[in-house]
Amino acid sequence: MIKGFIFDLDGVITDTAELHYDAWKKLSDEMNWKFDRELNEKLRGISRMDSIKVIMDHNGVSLDEATVVELATKKNDIYVESLDDMTPDDYLPGARELLTHLRSEGFSVALGSASKNANKVLKQLNAVHFFDVIGDGNSVSKSKPAPDIFLYASEKLGLRPENCIVFEDAEKGIDAAKAGKFHSVGIGPEERVGHADIRFETMKQATLFEVKSHFKELF
Ligand code: BG6
Ligand code: MG
Repeated sequence: MIKGFIFDLDGVITDTAELHYDAWKKLSDEMNWKFDRELNEKLRGISRMDSIKVIMDHNGVSLDEATVVELATKKNDIYVESLDDMTPDDYLPGARELLTHLRSEGFSVALGSASKNANKVLKQLNAVHFFDVIGDGNSVSKSKPAPDIFLYASEKLGLRPENCIVFEDAEKGIDAAKAGKFHSVGIGPEERVGHADIRFETMKQATLFEVKSHFKELF
């Protein structure tokens, strides 16, 4: 029986990829590092520190840990400032409708995000009230593809993984859901989330009716 839903944030509820891109690009330009949208795609779903390591590897750069932390913080300051312009108009189409529907049907709902800025993003969207539990980058130490953030969220909801559906737009996010034995819905292209139990191209198609009809025997 499905009793709960766990949502990733960036790329599922709202599209922050471009804001992350701008902030990493600004830092990379300052550091004379190569950074483009293709590389930005590889950062989808992974933590800030894992992200800067991917960028440094790509550029063949190695620095001491304190400097890496300082640079990641610099990127984050740029990113956080850009969040001030986010408003309740910035939900991905379909996301607010699905969250509203789930609440009205009485399902438990949690956030399972790698971001340490999740609370700020939810506040900007006016989305805090949709969630019974907020699991973010501060809740666990092992990030996706480890299942820890989803296990944290389901445990706080008081549910077992088999009673929850995880919504994710990242390859590593679906890996994490599967590692934790959750049911999974992938949002995005086949080459990214084709390994999810079911997949929708966008959140707009991911209505409760569609989800229920795919997981028929679980409702
Ligand atoms: C994920 C994003 O949700 O959060 C990643 O998909 C990002 O791109 C990660 O690196 C960490 O975010 P933050 O806000 O803690 O830097
Ligand atoms: Mg995501």
